[in-house]
Amino acid sequence: TVVYIPRDAAALSVGAERVAKAIMAEAAIRGETITLVRTGTRGACWLEPLVEIDIGGVRHGYGPVTPADAPSLFDANFLSGGAHPLALGPVEALDWFAGQQRVTFARCGVIDPLSLAAYEAHGGLAGLRKALAIPSAEIVEAIKASGLRGRGGAGFPAGIKWATALAAESETKYVVCNADEGDSGTFADRMLMEGDPFSLIEGMIVAGLAVGASKGFVYIRSEYPHAFRAMAEAVAKAEDAGLLGPSVLGSGRAFAMELRLGAGAYICGEETSLLESLEGRRGQVRAKPPLPAIKGLFGQPTIVNNVLTLAAAPWILAHGPQAYAALGCGRSLGTLTVQLAGNVRRGGLVELPFGATLRRLIEEFGGGTATGRKLRAVQVGGPLGAYLPDSLLDTPLDYEALAAAGGMLGHGGVVVFDDTVDLAKQARFAMAFCAHESCGKCTPCRIGSQRGVEVIDRIVAGHERAANRAVLDDLLELMTDASLCALGGLTPLPVRSALAHFPEDFERPARGPT
Ligand code: NAI
Ligand code: SF4
Repeated sequence: TVVYIPRDAAALSVGAERVAKAIMAEAAIRGETITLVRTGTRGACWLEPLVEIDIGGVRHGYGPVTPADAPSLFDANFLSGGAHPLALGPVEALDWFAGQQRVTFARCGVIDPLSLAAYEAHGGLAGLRKALAIPSAEIVEAIKASGLRGRGGAGFPAGIKWATALAAESETKYVVCNADEGDSGTFADRMLMEGDPFSLIEGMIVAGLAVGASKGFVYIRSEYPHAFRAMAEAVAKAEDAGLLGPSVLGSGRAFAMELRLGAGAYICGEETSLLESLEGRRGQVRAKPPLPAIKGLFGQPTIVNNVLTLAAAPWILAHGPQAYAALGCGRSLGTLTVQLAGNVRRGGLVELPFGATLRRLIEEFGGGTATGRKLRAVQVGGPLGAYLPDSLLDTPLDYEALAAAGGMLGHGGVVVFDDTVDLAKQARFAMAFCAHESCGKCTPCRIGSQRGVEVIDRIVAGHERAANRAVLDDLLELMTDASLCALGGLTPLPVRSALAHFPEDFERPARGPT
């Protein structure tokens, strides 16, 4: 019998390793032969550790399992799908999965992430083989036609970025993967690197073929040791198998990859800081232009793309750009990976075509707040995203609709708060976060964020509220218009949304500095 247990960081954090050991020990005691396959997570974090058994080609789940459950699982004959209080039945028939449309995460949690054979058996390498058979310009055209937009947050059309780098004349070009996933409440990049690392490797090679680059770097967040290890093992296997190296799959085209551990600063996720850091300097923002696509790493044309953008490319080539563009709505095409976090009952990763409403995500998939209290605010798009009230939860999740509602989709992080949240505190936190993470290059962000904390404190303390509110409005305008990068430029977004939708939190009787 094949038993699948995740070894993704999220599953490990709730005891997956101990569960795997307990099940193997119990099997040994009972003389049962088990083949244990360690997978990534499927993203239903609320069910982890999720143990799956293959019964006639259908995966049956049990979860969340603790080591103490091992004897009773065997007593219930779980290897044959026996009844047990933790039995979930066929995993893919659960509402949580049946309601999703997995494209980028189709293999995540299903296969052994480090088995190239399993990767290929589940559709891997088909996109790369297609890319190897066509000219660079055709790969770029396919990405353009698919409508794929950058998943790091800005949503810039990937095909246009790739076309810019392809057109730039240089012998040396680079593909850089931004895996410095720093947004609060986000974990999709990590999950993909741990659960399906070959898809990122394949995507990087496809990108290299598209723009004429033979070297790729992955800059991985320093807080992600498991992802780094999974990627390192996958890269070594890809080299051994001739997928990476001087002749990719025997094509005569070279592509090599290097992994770098990030420097531990939020700003290193900003693409120019990331390049500085990769070059061995302190992560500080460079002014644009020049765009990295024209003059990036070591002064050479470089495409910097998020993990999910690159990992989507092989699917697009394998299935055709129209199949990808058929998903989604308006100018937001393909699928969106929402990461449900915060005060939500069923947190985890949900992949759906763009356009589902926030309410559907939070209620249908998330199951409402974890505390059972009334939902009050949802922050979408990381620490620089807006706080949306209940009245805006019917906003569809696409780039334009969210922007029209005064927010931004960012990297797809959705953090839920119940009615105990204090939005004045959250607004202060936005400024404090910016002050802490500012690279210091420009004054509106470096000094403005510090002043922002102080002025919010004065408003909350009831000190000359009207005058301080006017100062805050001026400061927000200045930071938006005059900051060099998105950190200073977008910090006003959560603050403004808190002021607009939750003014009562700033108007309570004076209660002193928070
Ligand atoms: P941006 O709009 O300046 O650029 C987007 C991308 O398009 C960049 O790679 C840029 O080089 C490229 N680009 C722009 N014009 C181009 C052209 N004509 N040709 C070729 N390439 C072109 O946005 P930025 O500053 O890169 O990202 C800001 C976003 O980052 C925010 O909206 C936020 O959502 C997101 N973010 C994500 C985080 C995460 O952890 N994933 C953390 C913090 C922010
Ligand atoms: Fe650095 Fe902040 Fe200016 Fe960005 S906005 S360049 S993080 S000081």
